[in-house]
Parts: sequence; C-alpha cells; structure tokens
Amino acid sequence: MMLISQNLNKISYIQQNDEFDYLKNLIKSLEKGICMGILLHGPPGTGKTLLAITLANAFNAHYYIIDGSPDLDRRDIEGYWEIFNGETQFNYGPLTRAIDDANKEGVSFIIINEVNAIRESEQISLNSLLSENHINLISKGFERYELNPKSKLVIIGTLNKGVIGINKLQEAFEDRFIVSPEINYPIKQKEIEIATKISGCDTNLAEIVVDVARQIRKQALKDFSITKIFSTRLVVNFCIVVSCMSPKFLRHNIENIIINKLGENQEEKKSIAMILDGKMFEEKLNRLLKPEENSTVSEKTELNLVEAEEQKIVSIMKEQVDKHIQAYSKTSVFKKNGDIWWKFFEWFWRYNRKKLRDYIKLTRKLRLNILYSSSTGKNYQYNGEITLSYIRWLYRHKNQVLMNFMKIICPIFN
Ligand SMILES: Nc1ncnc2c1ncn2[C@@H]1O[C@H](COP(=O)(O)OP(=O)(O)O)[C@@H](O)[C@H]1O
Ligand SMILES: [Mg+2]
Repeated sequence: MMLISQNLNKISYIQQNDEFDYLKNLIKSLEKGICMGILLHGPPGTGKTLLAITLANAFNAHYYIIDGSPDLDRRDIEGYWEIFNGETQFNYGPLTRAIDDANKEGVSFIIINEVNAIRESEQISLNSLLSENHINLISKGFERYELNPKSKLVIIGTLNKGVIGINKLQEAFEDRFIVSPEINYPIKQKEIEIATKISGCDTNLAEIVVDVARQIRKQALKDFSITKIFSTRLVVNFCIVVSCMSPKFLRHNIENIIINKLGENQEEKKSIAMILDGKMFEEKLNRLLKPEENSTVSEKTELNLVEAEEQKIVSIMKEQVDKHIQAYSKTSVFKKNGDIWWKFFEWFWRYNRKKLRDYIKLTRKLRLNILYSSSTGKNYQYNGEITLSYIRWLYRHKNQVLMNFMKIICPIFN
C-alpha cells in the first residue's frame, strides 16, 4: 500500500506540452507553510503517477505513494498509537511521515493513486491537511500534527474521472486541490517519442505499435466492441518486451501483451485480432525484427574492412568533399542547421561511386543493407555498384548514420 521513495525510478515523465514545467513552476512559486493539492485526471496509463514522481524527484524530495482503495482506513493513512509491550508507540503513516519530512527538509510529496477510491469518511484527514495544513490524529484524541510555516507539502492525487467510481470524490474535497490538469493520450509523434525513449526501442518499431494502438483506441470509442483502452503504458511495455526478446516469440507477445490483455471476452479478442491483421501488424514487425530471414544478400562473399582501409576511404572521401566545397561553396553541401543537402549526396553518388561503395561496406557492419533489402525488397547494389535508391533510403531513414560518417569526413561539421 505504501512505498517509500528511494529514487529507484530511473525513468522520467516526458511531457506532452509543458505540463511538467507548469506544475514544477507552480510548486516553486507558492508560498511556504502550506499544503498544496494537485489533482491529475485522465485515462489510465498516460503517465500521471510517473509525472507526480518525476515532480518529486525534481525537488529532490521524499515522496510517499498511497494506492487509494475503499479498504483504506484513516489510521493507515495518518499513522496510529498502540500499546506494545506495555509502552505506547506511534506507528507512522504516510501523512505523518511526509509532514515530518517536509518539516525537516523543506518539502515533501504524497502521491495518491486513484484518490476517488478512498472512502469519503477517510478523506477527512486529507481535507484538514489541504485546508489547514495539519491533521488531527484520530488515534490520539485528535491531537494536531502540523506542517511548520517554513515547509511545503505537495499532495498529488490521480484519478480517472471517466470511471464510475466506487466512491465519488467529495465536492468539498475536490475543491481543496488548487489545480486539476488533464493528462490525456499524447499525439502520435509524441507517443512514438515516449515509446522510443522509455523502452529504448527502434523508432520504426514504436511507430508500428503506436499506429495500431491509436486504431484500437478509435475503434473502442466508435462502437464499444473493445472496452479496454490501449494505453501508452501498454505501448511502452510491448516495445520493451518485443525489442529484448527473440523474434520467434513475437506471436506469443502479440497474443499475451495485446490481445489477451485488452480483450475481455472472445468477441473482443476477435475484434482486436482483426484490427491487427488489417494493419499487417505481425508481418511488419517480423520484417523489422528478422531482416536476415528475408534477405537475399549473401554476406560471406563480401570483404570485411580492416581499420587501415577504413581510414584510407575516409581520407579519399575527405579530399573529394574538400574539392566540392572549394568549387561550389560550403552552402552547397550544408544546410543552415548543419545537415547535408540531398543534392550533395546525389552528386557524390554520380562522381564518386567507387568511394561511396567502399563506404557502404562500412554501413554493412551495421547490417543496414540487409534492413534495406528486407523493408524495400530491393538489392542495395546493382552490377557491383551501390544504387542511388539505397543512398536515398539511408538519407531518409538512417540519416544519423550517414551524418556521423560525414562528420569524420567533413570536419566543418564540428
Ligand atoms: N508521458 C510519459 N512519459 C514517460 N512515460 C510514459 C508517459 N506516458 C506513459 N508512460 C509509460 O506508461 C507507464 C505508466 O504510467 P503511469 O504513471 O503509471 O500512468 P497512470 O498513472 O496515468 O496510469 C510509465 O511507467 C511509462 O512507461
Ligand atoms: Mg497511476
């Protein structure tokens, strides 16, 4: 029920707009000596709890997490006195601990998940904390337990308003939270960014998964044939598992992480499976995860470059770039932001094919040629020469690889 912070969480919330900056600023701006409430609402798995934890970490503060439930009793939240071996002793609860921490360290956080699941009668101790900066301990004749005037206590409640809760949030209680930001599903590009950064997976993988997640969400809203929502949490978890497991378990992962989890019954599972099929989900992932299988390129016939050769290629290419820059100026090679113009690569391909071919051998170390073949169905070379189409593909999809290589060649870059 209660978790004491130890900075175990390595991941941080990625903001959709500037909601994190806003809340951080709000907490910073408010005067000392008060307990402030923030109510985050929105559908499950959108990062509400993570946002709260990331805020606490930003202040280097201790935080206590309470998982709201109707079983929760006021004594659990506040802490209570009991007689143990003939002596009275106090058992701390998250509220008393957080007050102590704030009094000692200046600031502390209490995070309450599903705050509407707490019974109304038990919301009272939070009420007095939020409006009068103290609690009245129920176990000791309502003795005051107080926040000192130099400290701040931040209570962040999270809830999903859409859910018909076991307990409604009391209006008077809700009023005591000063702001109530809504956290919803991110826009497509943002969700891809979140999935990529949090799971560490490839962008292409995240893109395929996010696309399907959005389609399933849309369907759920349209005709209720699917009742559970494909959350960002699920997107992230799927990306993590799939990218660290062998592709031979892909089918299992799709079934166990997506279909069985989202589908409440056979009908729902069928609807989900149909959407996945329609999007060629499994095929697309397979192509991405198992490029070797679909490849027609035989690797054994190719040479492996040794370092001395690499250096030779780099220095020859450097000469060519220098010549080009002298003849046509720097701006014909670089954009204002330092990226390389496509036109320049095209020129390079036309006049320095052989050198470029050697460079492509370097990209083979990264198996990019195989990835290219499997995702486009084309061979990366023709008559022993690399194709312009492959260069274009590298330029569009693997820009970073090409850029990094060019950085070695064109020191102007740095
Ligand atoms: N904006 C985001 N930034 C980072 N991770 C996110 C974000 N949204 C969702 N996630 C992922 O979803 C997981 C669950 O988030 P959580 O905070 O528990 O959601 P909620 O409290 O809204 O149900 C996170 O651990 C993370 O993997
Ligand atoms: Mg949560």
